[in-house]
Amino acid sequence: RGKRAFIAGVADDNGYGWAIAKSLAAAGAEILVGTWVPALNIFETSLRRGKFDESRVLPDGSLMEITKVYPLDAVYDSPEDVPEDVKSNKRYAGCTNWTVKEVAECVKHDFGTIDILVHSLANGPEVSKPLLETSRNGYLAAISASSYSFVSLLKHFVPIMNPGGATISLTYIASERIIPGYGGGMSSAKAALESDTRVLAFEAGRKHRVRVNTISAGPLRSRAAKAIGFIDMMIDYSLENAPLQKELSAEEVGNAAAFLASPLASAVTGAVIYVDNGLNAMGVGV
Ligand code: NAI
Repeated sequence: RGKRAFIAGVADDNGYGWAIAKSLAAAGAEILVGTWVPALNIFETSLRRGKFDESRVLPDGSLMEITKVYPLDAVYDSPEDVPEDVKSNKRYAGCTNWTVKEVAECVKHDFGTIDILVHSLANGPEVSKPLLETSRNGYLAAISASSYSFVSLLKHFVPIMNPGGATISLTYIASERIIPGYGGGMSSAKAALESDTRVLAFEAGRKHRVRVNTISAGPLRSRAAKAIGFIDMMIDYSLENAPLQKELSAEEVGNAAAFLASPLASAVTGAVIYVDNGLNAMGVGV
């Protein structure tokens, strides 16, 4: 039987989530995605109208099939956690079962089990503010959407993951080195995500034989990255300074994720894997 993957954080064809879905599909996996509720409508409409067809093409010429799109807001674990103003917000009102617990229940009901869980989402409302100017609420919101969201996804999905399964998240080197401009507590959120990768690798490994890794990816002009505001500068910086002087493609990160999710990586867990043209290894720019 082919493997089944749930990829949280796909809302267009520009980001790492989409590229990971494609690499997994190319390797024969069945693809389920979780799409942020406010982005769901436009994503599904675009998908239906064929707007993504060109980017759905797999190496063998076939088109990637997404078996099902689930609405998801990874900031809420169960319906009791959803505040009134969100419940009644018109972008959420027409939609049900999008808290993490409910999505896991729906996937279980529809498919029984999964083999691969991908977390490709982040949000920091104050990302453009330096850490020194970040509010407590902004900092906690960054951690909630970008770090705890992974703990919650794993907690709710691990019971329906087949032993030998794998989970992957996406992180950024701002967790360990100073990257001015990556503010709002997002650097802190990525540090938490990387630390949690180790602890969760232990807990999910011992309990369920599930592996937990994170990919520290280089800069990509995704929707989220464009919102931060300095992505073109980071891409130029990498082109100039990284050991491999080429633009990083989302597909390269997708392929690394497919490796990590496969039996080829059966002894790799608790790791931060750099897929960044080697930029992380540089000490000075040259
Ligand atoms: P993206 O915009 O394709 O993906 C982010 C996704 O998160 C979007 O689909 C958005 O709708 C979703 N999202 C935001 N809040 C959510 C919530 N509460 N619940 C559910 N979904 C939510 O952008 P990108 O850049 O591909 O981001 C994917 C991951 O890659 C993120 O973790 C990001 O930090 C990481 N990353 C990105 C880099 C880049 O240069 N683009 C570099 C290193 C890591």
